[in-house]
Amino acid sequence: MTDLKRYPDAAGLVSAVAEAFVARLAEVQAEGRVPSVALTGGTIADEIYRAVAALDSSAVDWTQVDFWWGDERYVAADSSDRNDRGVGRDLLDVVGVDALRVHAMPAADESHADVHAAAAAYGEAVRSTGGGAFDLVLLGLGPDGHVASLFPGHPQLDRDDEVALGVTDSPKPPPERITLTFPALNRTRAVWFLVSGEGKADAVARALADEGSVHETPARGITATDRTWWLDEPAASKL
Ligand code: 6PG
Repeated sequence: MTDLKRYPDAAGLVSAVAEAFVARLAEVQAEGRVPSVALTGGTIADEIYRAVAALDSSAVDWTQVDFWWGDERYVAADSSDRNDRGVGRDLLDVVGVDALRVHAMPAADESHADVHAAAAAYGEAVRSTGGGAFDLVLLGLGPDGHVASLFPGHPQLDRDDEVALGVTDSPKPPPERITLTFPALNRTRAVWFLVSGEGKADAVARALADEGSVHETPARGITATDRTWWLDEPAASKL
């Protein structure tokens, strides 16, 4: 099922996603489970995290949520380039999560031999916690159609034998990254694409077209059954 939600502008999109995010976590907890969420970096996602922090989220026990990442820039742990930096400062530190449930991707100044070894370690962690299935995966979309750090034409798009992979030649800096693979991202109850701005309109149209290739538009490789596209009008303008 693909659900399209359209908002006149980015502000409307941000507040709708923030409210839905809190509601989804509360819903999973009401079922007696610990929600498992894979977060994304990106401008619009960072705005959403700030909006969540500003909401009344007392319906959620934030210490009982597992946070993972769909991708991360392989830089030092304290680098402002990291995807986990904004969400950590603007949401996780504010609402008071359990640090043991925050599963950040490895950083370049940790003890792993290289980005590939770091990715393998993260894949092992995902696999060994809750069977590697998520309740919710959040994904930004690049103007080139990338999701997580799965970039057009790159070999990671064809890998279904690993949970996480290293990337050494990302076209978007920094070049070294860790990304979950399609099978890992698709092992989720739901995936939400968070997309704002006219610069994404072509990529959105290609991602949602009846036909097209995953190598041209990696977002097409996200085949989890329950997909919601959260779009503002500029991003939806070519649909
Ligand atoms: C990264 C981001 C990236 C992002 C999209 C959308 O590591 O560079 O995680 O994958 O999600 O490029 O980003 P914007 O919302 O900033 O356009």
